[in-house]
Parts: sequence; C-alpha cells; structure tokens
Amino acid sequence: MSVFQNIVVLTGAGISAESGIDTFRGGGGLWEQHRVEDVATPEAFARDPDLVLRFYDERRAAIQTKAPNAAHEALARLDARWAGELLIVTQNVDDLHERAGTKRLVHMHGEQLSAWCTACDQRSRWTGSLIDRPACPACGMVGYLRPDIVWFGEMPYHMDDIYRALNRADLFVSIGTSGAVYPAAGFVREARQAGARTLELNLEPSEGSYWFAESRHGRATTLVPQWVDQMLGD
Ligand code: OAD
Repeated sequence: MSVFQNIVVLTGAGISAESGIDTFRGGGGLWEQHRVEDVATPEAFARDPDLVLRFYDERRAAIQTKAPNAAHEALARLDARWAGELLIVTQNVDDLHERAGTKRLVHMHGEQLSAWCTACDQRSRWTGSLIDRPACPACGMVGYLRPDIVWFGEMPYHMDDIYRALNRADLFVSIGTSGAVYPAAGFVREARQAGARTLELNLEPSEGSYWFAESRHGRATTLVPQWVDQMLGD
C-alpha cells in the first residue's frame, strides 16, 4: 500500500527517445539541426510559413512510424490501476502516451496530430500535411490551419488544471526532461512548496536535478517500469 494518493507525472522528450524520436537538446538533438527562432516561434511562421509547415509536416509523418515503448506502457498501466488522483502532463507533441492507452493525460505543448484553424479557432485531428494549405474541415476557410503546437512565446495549454493538480499532489515525478524550458521546469518547485515528494527519472542529472528529493539515472524503458512496479506493488 503506497503512502501516496495524488500523483503528477511530467514527461519530456527523453521518454520517447527509445521509440526513435529525436530529443531537442544535446548531441544530435533537433535544436542542433534547426534554430528555434527559425521554426518554433510565431514570428518564424509569419516570416517563412513554408519552412515552418514543412518542418512540422516531416515530424508529423515521422511520429506515425514510431511505437510506444516500455516506459509509455508502464505509465498507461499506472493510469489504469492507480486509485488516487493522477495527472500525466507531457511536453511531448507525439501521441505515444495515448497510443499506449493513457487516459489521464494533458499535452501542455500541443499535439502534432492536431491542426488549429486561426480563422474559426477549431482544432481538427490531422495526420497529413499542411504545406499545401488545405481547407479547415470545420469552417472551410483556406490558408488558416497551423500546427497545434505551442511555440516559444506562446502560452502553454491546460495550465490551470496542471497547477491545481500540482497543489494537490503528494508525489511529483519528472521523466526524461532537461528542465530547460519554463513553465514546466518550475513544476518541481511548485509541487515541493505544496508538500509533495519529488522524484526525477532521467538519463543524466537535468538542469533542475537540484530541486528533486531523489534522482534516479538511467534509460526510461528501465527506470519507469521499475518505478511503476514499486507504486503498484507488483
Ligand atoms: P530535451 O531534449 O531538452 O531533454 C531531454 C532529456 O531526456 C535530457 O535530459 C536527456 O538526458 C533525457 N533523455 C534522453 N534519452 C533518454 C532516455 N532514453 N531515458 C531517459 N531520459 C533520456 O527535451 P524536453 O525537456 O522535453 O518545446 O524539452 C522541453 C521542450 O523544449 C519541448 O517540449 C520542446 C522543446 O523546445 C516546444 O517545442 C514547445
């Protein structure tokens, strides 16, 4: 029987790395191959929409060839069986958590498989490309669909729900994130202030390691199933 009731889990690119999806920082990371200012800001989209649309079209096609790994599956198992409150907050824009079966999930940085119409404000599931300026399925307008991704300088999604959960949590677990991007990088301090135990599962110490009561270092596909077994008493 765990001493914990309410859990918040934050995931980042490291949880999808072993599924073959590039992380952002570090050797070979996406932000070594592309400048953030060129592809991941509203200014970049205004300046060179084709470059931005092509960048996300390639990533959207790529994630559909990948599969969830043992770490995504372990979190789905936790979600299915955890009787207390649980919120899995992902910074990832892939859909590997939901394909593993996770339900109590929010995408704070948006979703690759969603297109947002800035004419009618509707979001539509999107698996194809946007470069040819398809019409919005909701309003029919052409030229207004953009990737439903939170770019730098934009407000992340679901922040009220996330802070509510952090303030009720007695355990906060961060998995596979460098702790370099706010507001997500600040969640550990928010949870600590609310009295939660804090645990980091990451390949290496992250920029925010100092803030965690406990850090375990290794691959997500090893560490996450071990931690979930521990939580469920398996
Ligand atoms: P990063 O690329 O910054 O960090 C990934 C972290 O995962 C690093 O600390 C790695 O050491 C760790 N890691 C790599 N492989 C791992 C493995 N197999 N098992 C466990 N850990 C592993 O990615 P994020 O922290 O997710 O935002 O980046 C945060 C945000 O910055 C992203 O959501 C994205 C980016 O700019 C937007 O695009 C809005």
